Amino acid sequence: MQVADYIKTLKPYEGGKPIEELQRELNLNCDIIKLASNENPLGASKKAVEAIKNTVENINMYPDGDSYYLKLKLSKLLGVSSKNLIFGNGSDELLELIYKVFANEKDDEILYCYPTFIEYRILGKSYNKKLIELPLKDFKYDIDALTNAINSNTKIIFLNTPNNPTGTLIKYEEIELITEKAGKNCLVVVDEAYYEYCKNSKDYKEILDLYKKDNVIILRTFSKAYGLAGLRIGYGIANEKIIDYLNRVRPPFNVNILAQNGALAALDDVEHIKNSVDNNEEGKAYLYNEFEDMGIEYVKTYANFILFDSGKDAEFVYNELLKKGVIIRSMTGYGYKNYLRVTIGTKEENRIFIEKLREVLDV
Ligand SMILES: Cc1ncc(COP(=O)(O)O)c(C=O)c1O
Repeated sequence: MQVADYIKTLKPYEGGKPIEELQRELNLNCDIIKLASNENPLGASKKAVEAIKNTVENINMYPDGDSYYLKLKLSKLLGVSSKNLIFGNGSDELLELIYKVFANEKDDEILYCYPTFIEYRILGKSYNKKLIELPLKDFKYDIDALTNAINSNTKIIFLNTPNNPTGTLIKYEEIELITEKAGKNCLVVVDEAYYEYCKNSKDYKEILDLYKKDNVIILRTFSKAYGLAGLRIGYGIANEKIIDYLNRVRPPFNVNILAQNGALAALDDVEHIKNSVDNNEEGKAYLYNEFEDMGIEYVKTYANFILFDSGKDAEFVYNELLKKGVIIRSMTGYGYKNYLRVTIGTKEENRIFIEKLREVLDV
């Protein structure tokens, strides 16, 4: 079988370890908690679950390929036209559509800072694109370096804010500057997967109006604060022309019927989002406090996870925590030797995580 080298050298995406897998591997007889994939620890909105149950009987039918009602509701909520919206099987799928449509000439370049969401790299390599990765500076996107690196070959720029795995924000003015420097032939993708967690912060300025520019797409998702990661649904907001191009390569029926109706109901459940964000703020304050007490350095986060320096080899800490039934993420693969990323959980999950971390680090 002939397979291109750029595919042979790819490493598959590694998500957080599933609870069942750890149970199988270590045969643990304690409860297992997973704080590894930035999922919502409060679960899905009850309204969404109800809507999904009510839809199950209809799964013999294809879904509405245009997500008409979902577009209608979201467009009203955001104050944009339905024509400015596109839904994907997770925002992951939208990243893929973006790669399909833009940057198809031989010398075209894709630009972003790293560490960031690893899919920009994996997908880029799978499409054999030329990736220009600049290091983060103090855990933040290095805006000076990025603007200097933009040239006539730059065709896609990924900006992830808050950035996964550091939790740091890119300022509105910085995004605006990049979009201006990028020019009309380069698409700037602003990935706001963790938007709901940062939107009330005094440090965050709403970026929605940037969708009107002719070279910007904003990505958001139902996987995080909405608690619907298992449904796979995310969306993009951009000018009509960009949405039109993306629709040309979008597979038919890419967003299933359960996802459409679950997301519709989740949009109504304002209280669930509020509770989720409140829980995150409380958990964040608790974890900061405990880290400080242990003398652990961490990066101030605007999302639902925290990057911290354990002071010991992160793989060791990760594996020791696994043995105690706590799944988080080691960041050694990102070049952060002693760093781990923990998702902010429920009050009880956070307490257990800290208890076990103290045992592992002996502090
Ligand atoms: C920054 C970022 N973008 C996109 C995604 C993918 O989200 P979705 O579940 O909508 O595909 C994630 C998931 O972890 C993420 O962290």
